[in-house]
Amino acid sequence: MFKNLLRTKPIAPAGHVDAGEPFEGSLDGEVGLKRTLTGTQLILLGIGAVIGAGIFVLTGQAAAEYAGPAVMLSFVLAGIACAFAGLCYAEFAAMLPVSGSAYSYSYATLGEGVAWFIGWCLVLEYLFAASTVAVGWSGYLNAFLGNFNAQLPDALASAPYVYEAATGKFVGTGAIVNLPAVLIIAAVSIVGYVGISQSAFVNSIIVAVKVTVILLFIGFGLQYVDPSNWEPFIPANEGGTRYGMDGVIRASAVVFFAYIGFDAVSTAAGEAKNPQRDMPIGILGSLAICTVLYILMSAVLTGMMPYGQLGTAEPVSTALINYPSLGWLQTLVEIAALAGLASVILVMLMAQPRIFYSMSHDGLMPKLFGKVHRKYRTPHVGTVIVGIVAALLAGLLPVGVLGDIVSMGTLLAFATVSIGVLILRYTRPSVPRPFRVPMAIVICPLGFVSCLYLFWQPFKEHWHLLGGWIVLGAIIYLAYGYRHSKLRAN
Ligand code: ALA
Repeated sequence: MFKNLLRTKPIAPAGHVDAGEPFEGSLDGEVGLKRTLTGTQLILLGIGAVIGAGIFVLTGQAAAEYAGPAVMLSFVLAGIACAFAGLCYAEFAAMLPVSGSAYSYSYATLGEGVAWFIGWCLVLEYLFAASTVAVGWSGYLNAFLGNFNAQLPDALASAPYVYEAATGKFVGTGAIVNLPAVLIIAAVSIVGYVGISQSAFVNSIIVAVKVTVILLFIGFGLQYVDPSNWEPFIPANEGGTRYGMDGVIRASAVVFFAYIGFDAVSTAAGEAKNPQRDMPIGILGSLAICTVLYILMSAVLTGMMPYGQLGTAEPVSTALINYPSLGWLQTLVEIAALAGLASVILVMLMAQPRIFYSMSHDGLMPKLFGKVHRKYRTPHVGTVIVGIVAALLAGLLPVGVLGDIVSMGTLLAFATVSIGVLILRYTRPSVPRPFRVPMAIVICPLGFVSCLYLFWQPFKEHWHLLGGWIVLGAIIYLAYGYRHSKLRAN
């Protein structure tokens, strides 16, 4: 059994892939996914997946509770860890232009056991992230509707159950369902069902809105920055991870959530026109743009208002409160946050069925996840199933705690991809690599260590939850994947 777990999937030479020439087919003679995405669309998909709850919700809390104005530094540190991982994703995605992302890369390097484990972690990253962000979206929507005295009653906009840590039980809250969270997931699932081009088009519009508003915020906000708000840059430690360098590191783990999603670009590799050239452009381009925007935005945010006052659920809007002349921008920021969170859900819910699609091809998931719609050329059954599960999670359960678990699962995937690149350089040196990580011998271990460090240190209190998730995954693998694995059958 151990041998089977370690068996790696041979890498089929990718050759050059062009539009209309499906590299990744569907099961049993069905149609394959459609190759239509350009480099620009891939960059926009990355930005769509990245800019969301992290910057619009978590930045204020990270500044107020952990890092002070040095939250800028936290964004730089998390950005560096992501840059290492992003370079590794770029090498893999150009070399293996398939939909399985980190799951497929692990299958080629570290064996079926690790591949399943990473595929299982990616469920945390994509499916659970979509549910978490949908709940955030619902909160933002209700606050926005509140401006017009039209907010939904709590019974229709919050979870009917909460988790009581003291008793370890779920208890009823009297609410019925978090309706906006369910509706936004249903809406983006429909877009994902009807086509990759349609999804990319909707995403491009949303990205244009949110990036424009962010640029307006940075441009106008800059004029109101009071540099004295940046002092002391790293407030003295007040115990634990509240301020000081320990706080800056803790805040990097919090704002890491803001970077999650650039890797979702790699799940579209099976639908890119020219993945060898455009995958690195999409992954690294979106990451670079978002990093610059984040650092500027956190600088303006902490410059406009003392960091202690930013710990609200809508810090970007809060920072504008003291400046009546920027009242018009406040409404725009709320619209951009709503749009931004919606595009994150859209891309995450596109990514998840594509990971399952690849796992299904390998026999590790049931065949229906590998089905492709004849007309729309999307993994439609997987899209519907993932949408239903995400909607149930977001509509019925309190997903607050999930944010950290999402980051943990993602960090494990990033660490595995980073080390996987190096391993493959030695085990399969001759496979053509259209993009190569520069100084891989240095960058890959740095990516591995920095992601594991962010995983290890700050999230200690959630290890048991992740442990439970991993045990559940192992049971499912043994009950289904191990027995149906095509690699093992061969
Ligand atoms: N990076 C995404 C967000 O911040 C997950 O919402």
